[in-house]
Amino acid sequence: MSNLSKCNNINDFRKLAKSKLPFPIFHYIDGGADDETTLLRNTKSFEDCDLVPNVLRGVENIDLSIKLFGKTIDLPFFLSPTALQRLFHYEGEMAVGQAAEAFNTFFGISSLSTVSASEISKLKGPKIFQLYYHKDKELTKNMIDECKEKKFDALALTVDTITGGNRERDLKTGFTSPPKFTLKSILSYATSPSWTLNYLVRKKFDLPFLSDYVGEGTKFAVSVSDYFSTMLDQSMSWKNAEEIRKYWNGPFCLKGIMSVEDAKNAVKIGASAIMVSNHGGRQLDGSRSPFDQLKEILDAVGGKIEVICDGGIRRGTHILKALSLMLQQIFIKIIRLKNLKMIIVFTKSFLKKYLKFLRI
Ligand code: LAC
Repeated sequence: MSNLSKCNNINDFRKLAKSKLPFPIFHYIDGGADDETTLLRNTKSFEDCDLVPNVLRGVENIDLSIKLFGKTIDLPFFLSPTALQRLFHYEGEMAVGQAAEAFNTFFGISSLSTVSASEISKLKGPKIFQLYYHKDKELTKNMIDECKEKKFDALALTVDTITGGNRERDLKTGFTSPPKFTLKSILSYATSPSWTLNYLVRKKFDLPFLSDYVGEGTKFAVSVSDYFSTMLDQSMSWKNAEEIRKYWNGPFCLKGIMSVEDAKNAVKIGASAIMVSNHGGRQLDGSRSPFDQLKEILDAVGGKIEVICDGGIRRGTHILKALSLMLQQIFIKIIRLKNLKMIIVFTKSFLKKYLKFLRI
């Protein structure tokens, strides 16, 4: 049995990754900001919530499909964008995209993707592009244009990463993009021979959305935090977000909304969705977890905008807890507002399937 087939859950995959990857790479993907309180809280808040099941409902036919960004997907969850994927495995975004495609769910790629828009567009599954708003406006515009041309299904503007998070594990390991073989880390690369071989002999590491415009991250090694702090536009405002939405002219999401006030602003600027997210605890330590914040956000904007909960999810039951909370809030709203139309955008497909279980 291969090591991979012995993995039964995300934690098993994490342990396997730790044993396979050079430590600067492992700690980059595994770590969070400051004391990593938020990183841990994101999962803990799911664990602290109890499920109370109803039984004898006749559940022989299960349909998990939902509608998101105008597309029907077969699962009520999807794969959020993460950067630099070829550093974790040489197949990078292509492999993750294929997995999402096989299950007909969304897959996100980052502006710091290691494959290009044309490569990724060979996959037919639904795709989201995660945009980082750069100081270089030509670069920002070009990324959007490429995604338009390659018919990405949605654009997610990252709004929680105006500067780099204080990722102390990266400071300790000296992680950079591209990776630097330093005195401190060389032993780790030497003792991860399959990773090192793949990195050295396979296709050269690149960030195709960026490398024609900026050398940082490809030609010059920088930490991800330094990249964000120097390359991204710290003056980004609601006005800019609205301009991007108009320019993109398709399903548009704000990734990294945590407060009720911002959720309401997202509705005002005409966004199609918000991702309630603290960037996996990698930016602002001390931030509340998305799951703990979901109730307030749904109460304020549920039905007016699609709401996605991002972060800390490690189990199917975590997804079930988020869905249960969403349903609960929706029914409270129906009773309160007596206006089914207002909530239909978000709930139509759920309602049909779950009414009989809730016996309403
Ligand atoms: C990170 C970015 C690149 O969290 O999404 O490292």
